[in-house]
Amino acid sequence: MRTPIIAGNWKMNKTIAEARDLVNGMRDDLARLAAGAKIEIVLCPPFLAIPEVATLVKNTPIRVGAQNVHWETKGAFTGEIAAPMLKDVCEYVIIGHSERRQYFGETDESVNKKIKTALTHHLKPIVCVGENLVQNESGQTEAFVGGQVRAAFKDISRDDARGIVIAYEPIWAIGTGKAASGTGANAVIGRTIRGALAALYDVATAQQVRVQYGGSVTPKNATEFFTQLEIDGALVGGASLAAADFAAICKAAVK
Ligand code: PGA
Repeated sequence: MRTPIIAGNWKMNKTIAEARDLVNGMRDDLARLAAGAKIEIVLCPPFLAIPEVATLVKNTPIRVGAQNVHWETKGAFTGEIAAPMLKDVCEYVIIGHSERRQYFGETDESVNKKIKTALTHHLKPIVCVGENLVQNESGQTEAFVGGQVRAAFKDISRDDARGIVIAYEPIWAIGTGKAASGTGANAVIGRTIRGALAALYDVATAQQVRVQYGGSVTPKNATEFFTQLEIDGALVGGASLAAADFAAICKAAVK
């Protein structure tokens, strides 16, 4: 049994004061939903708001995550944040989001390095993979996404792999209002992502890794994803910025 995990990726939104308001507007609902341990809920604010959010959800089952981490642990890397800095205030970290790959030059290789550093410092990676529209329409999804999974998990042990969360986020569905279909996402996750994990490790490991769907998830379509056998929750962007919407999506995940 895999515990569904719903993560809110706030991206570059919310000042510290706005973050406080957002958390205060949903904390009690989220804490109640996560209390039965039937689902895990993670908030991923921008770096600056993380300590404030971590303080606000202390003593609740709500978890906190970062949106990025550098692969080195300290040094001359202006503007970057290292895993030991995050460890005190975060449990999770999103790695390899398509926006980071697209706008900030992240590669399969840097993603793999970041995952290893996160694991070393006991941060749980949420690793993003997903194909673009051209790849999707030309039948390359399986080869591309499978390749991303194999590259991300390169030289990662079976034990470590089991603790990694994967977010399947087709790029064409992110922020577009055009979500994948539940059955379509389920097929890619089951066949391509779990297939790649089974080939790298074994079927049991492939069945143990949690795989979220991400891309235009809303309170309206959330149930379509959460009722799919292979999908273990969601990585939510836009809809995680409104307290009522995010709480409604989390509620849909409590089966
Ligand atoms: P979206 O973003 O929910 O706004 O489509 C998802 C993501 O990028 O993680």
